[in-house]
Amino acid sequence: MNLGQLLQHGHAHPDTEGLTIAHPRGYELCGALCFGGLRPRAYTRLARLSGARPADRVLDVGCGTGYLTRRMAKAVGPTGSVLGIDPSAEVVGYARDRTRESHCSYETGVAEALTAPDGSFDVVVTSLAVHHLPEDLRPVALREMCRVLRPGGRLLVADFRPPRTRLVRHLIGASVGHVMAEYRVDLLDRLVADAGFEVRGRGDVRPWLRYVQAVRPEK
Ligand SMILES: C[S@@+](CC[C@H](N)C(=O)[O-])C[C@H]1O[C@@H](n2cnc3c(N)ncnc32)[C@H](O)[C@@H]1O
Repeated sequence: MNLGQLLQHGHAHPDTEGLTIAHPRGYELCGALCFGGLRPRAYTRLARLSGARPADRVLDVGCGTGYLTRRMAKAVGPTGSVLGIDPSAEVVGYARDRTRESHCSYETGVAEALTAPDGSFDVVVTSLAVHHLPEDLRPVALREMCRVLRPGGRLLVADFRPPRTRLVRHLIGASVGHVMAEYRVDLLDRLVADAGFEVRGRGDVRPWLRYVQAVRPEK
């Protein structure tokens, strides 16, 4: 059993085929170690790259422990709102306990069947969550993100960028699992475009993230 399996429910979660996180404290520890001190800077940069502005309504899909959600709450300020959703009641409870901002809330929910009405957010963000979905659910989840964004609304998807070195990939596979080590992050652009978005930008955030910025077309 590797670290990834230890932190997850595996496929046992009743609401999704996605790999859900069951142990928020363990996940936080793993996040801090894997980012080697660069996590605060990396996630602050993601919040900036999302283009969120004061008073925006933001959805964070697969929010986990709320690390990005809380940064989004800072970006939109008290006149905005941020909702984080995740199927795991454990991480949602952990995120709620660590959030002071009253305009930042959490619910259990799944990316492939969002409950929000059409066009109800200005910005949708999702970090390190797409690779947790089985391949057939990834396009469904991206279409849902497009549906709940208002026309002209912005999407930021960030996900794991496996290192090019085979040895490091092998170490990642052995420690956190082969889903991460073999993840085709280069397909993210196409996934986003096929869901109906206009891709506006892409890039890397050190040490492990690739991001894609996109907009829901006005028409
Ligand atoms: C690696 S964690 C990332 C958490 C957080 N976004 C971050 O960047 O730290 C992946 C998250 O995706 C969630 N997840 C798994 N299946 C999901 C689904 N069907 N819909 C939404 N989130 C899901 C997991 O429970 C987990 O919290």
